[in-house]
Amino acid sequence: MKILISRKIESEVMQLIPKDEFDIVMWKEENSIMPRDLFLKEVVDADAIFINVTDQIDEEVLSCAKKLKVIGTMAVGFDNIDIKEATKRNIPVGHTPDVLSEAVAELALTLMFASARRVVESMNYIKASEWTSWGPYLFAGQKITGAKLGIIGMGRIGNELAKMARGLNMDVSYYNRNRKIETEKKLQVHYKDLNTLLQESDYVVMLAPATKETYHMMKYEQFALMKPTSIFVNVSRGTTVDENDLYKVLKEKKIYAAGLDVFENEPIDENHPLLSLDNVIAVPHIGSATVETRDKMVEITLKNILNGLKGEPLLHAVNPEVYTKK
Ligand code: DGY
Repeated sequence: MKILISRKIESEVMQLIPKDEFDIVMWKEENSIMPRDLFLKEVVDADAIFINVTDQIDEEVLSCAKKLKVIGTMAVGFDNIDIKEATKRNIPVGHTPDVLSEAVAELALTLMFASARRVVESMNYIKASEWTSWGPYLFAGQKITGAKLGIIGMGRIGNELAKMARGLNMDVSYYNRNRKIETEKKLQVHYKDLNTLLQESDYVVMLAPATKETYHMMKYEQFALMKPTSIFVNVSRGTTVDENDLYKVLKEKKIYAAGLDVFENEPIDENHPLLSLDNVIAVPHIGSATVETRDKMVEITLKNILNGLKGEPLLHAVNPEVYTKK
């Protein structure tokens, strides 16, 4: 059986695949993705594909993949996969929830702290030899402890972030499609409608997944509701934000700063206007990037795939209905 792996993965965890039982075809180049035409060629006789957020698994791929029995994405998000088509073809799709929640919540906090305390700007100032003396308000920023945090999208990552933020004595609110009464009690967080959350929060963290409903849910109108001292952080998907509008509100100082891990188009163009602003911190989609977390994501992706190839339920299937539908 053939497993097609679209990125170079060197982790020891890969030893989970019994080499003698499988034909492994892996893209061998570091920091680049398997070209689409090669992927389309290789997928024709693949029994399983090990993919990630950079692969578009659409109808074209699925109709080429005549033998495909399982898809494993090394991610929690699956907006890059046509789940409806996969389900129609009875192909289970596995993903990697839970194991990355803490790491992504940590990066949200990192971006909150780095933006609030102007860490990157300060370092650039030193490197440019501009630091001449201590200043009473030199790079004076915003405080986090005790401030108000608003989380958009209260899933697993939101829960972890809320826990961490409560440890910083933050007053945590959330907006979500459905209210989470249990979470409210357990973590002492409050539900707010989106506009109220935007108006009241000192920090707004976007955690909603990319769907039709969340596309550009943050536009000028929404950003303009935020306080001029507030900070916006996005660690979910770039498409939840209208980047042109975000640029405008940052430029007009309608909000204080933004910390961004994800972008409408990735990799973001180095000449993108957002990157010209001092009050933007941008990192290259590294929310879950700790070695421990990535190893766990590889492990779960492989286990999903191996289960799928045996016809057994995946550890985490996005479309478990493939097992029950007639
Ligand atoms: C995910 O898991 O969806 C991330 O965006 C990739 O780490």
